[in-house]
Amino acid sequence: MGFFKTNGFLPFSEPLVGKEELNAVKRVFKRNWFTSGPEVKEFEKEFSNLTGSKFSVAVNSATAALHVSLATIGIEKGDDVISTPFTFVSTINTIVETGAYPVLVDINEKDYNISSDKIIERIESEYIFKEKFPIHKKRKTKLKAILPVHYAGQPADLERINNIAKKYNLKVIEDAAHAIGSEYKGKKIGDSENLVAFSFYSNKNITTGGEGGIISSNNEDYEKKLRLYSLHGIDKEAYSRLKHEGLPFYDVKVLGFKYNMTDISAAIGREQLKRIKKINDKRREIAELYKEKLSDIDEIIIRPISKDKESSYHLFVIEILNYDRNKLIKELLNRKIQTSVHFMPVHLFTYYKNNFPYKKGDFPVSEKIFNRILSLPIFPAMDENDVKIVVDTIKEILVKK
Ligand SMILES: Cc1ncc(COP(=O)(O)O)c(C=O)c1O
Repeated sequence: MGFFKTNGFLPFSEPLVGKEELNAVKRVFKRNWFTSGPEVKEFEKEFSNLTGSKFSVAVNSATAALHVSLATIGIEKGDDVISTPFTFVSTINTIVETGAYPVLVDINEKDYNISSDKIIERIESEYIFKEKFPIHKKRKTKLKAILPVHYAGQPADLERINNIAKKYNLKVIEDAAHAIGSEYKGKKIGDSENLVAFSFYSNKNITTGGEGGIISSNNEDYEKKLRLYSLHGIDKEAYSRLKHEGLPFYDVKVLGFKYNMTDISAAIGREQLKRIKKINDKRREIAELYKEKLSDIDEIIIRPISKDKESSYHLFVIEILNYDRNKLIKELLNRKIQTSVHFMPVHLFTYYKNNFPYKKGDFPVSEKIFNRILSLPIFPAMDENDVKIVVDTIKEILVKK
């Protein structure tokens, strides 16, 4: 029957939740402990089982996960962090919020991920050059980290990025908001010495009830600090303090944030984890159908997923040629099909234009791709009929032009 026929419209995204998630929430009500507690502990273990990472620290968003990760590796005012303008704004906001400077580097046209060639160019021209020829000193800053984004669920060029980081003594934080279940060269995203931040926001592959995030890593040196920064810098969380220990005292070790995940969120997340394989398989199936059915339209480009990568298909992105993308969005919406655009490059936002020297034209690939792209509906409750409706509607609009 399909989602469209049943509901009369097709949203861009729709979470897959059911009575299992509801029962999990009831379990939390029965226990009557709502903030971080036993559900969060279990969720962290179960998420690590999915990613194959040594540990995970749950927080209340991927934005929080990135902020806590940056604090944990010691990013502060006077530091530089390399990242991409082709991301959701919070990736770059978190860098700025630490006081550091976001050194933006353009993307590859083939996969919309940060270009490792351009990272090298930027490092060599702005930092190495500076040391060799002090006369060229541009800014008194220290380059400390690289923050790649696994765009749409397709991993960035991690091997190369990790090698660059090793060569220049930089840390890597991965924005894996889109990449739950993605793989790079046979390894799950999250199974890494880097700090890897995931999102459970409502439209992500799995949700913890609207908002949520987690950091996974194999580098256990980071775990304690991640936990400190996510809960005020306090060295003992409330559950163990109040339930298992005698005295209600604690110390504050660092200037932390209030980013911990609640037990209600974790309980929902634990049920969602049981569904992740089914969800990702279904997303892949929808993506394959789109690829097949859209392949004969000359105005559409679909970039292939690289052979050594497995995508979570968080987004299904097409490029539109020779047709006004915004007009297409409106025409699809008139026919009850919702689409989206990921992303307007960060340097084009007013705040960034007003506070940083970036300007239109600085990142030509990101800007070109932004003007062309469209994210089509993709979620597990869709079926082949829904894909057919989207494709036929696009064809009808493009043919009539
Ligand atoms: C690439 C990317 N990074 C970070 C985030 C932030 O995630 P959250 O909403 O969980 O803070 C998002 C959210 O959509 C995203 O798309």
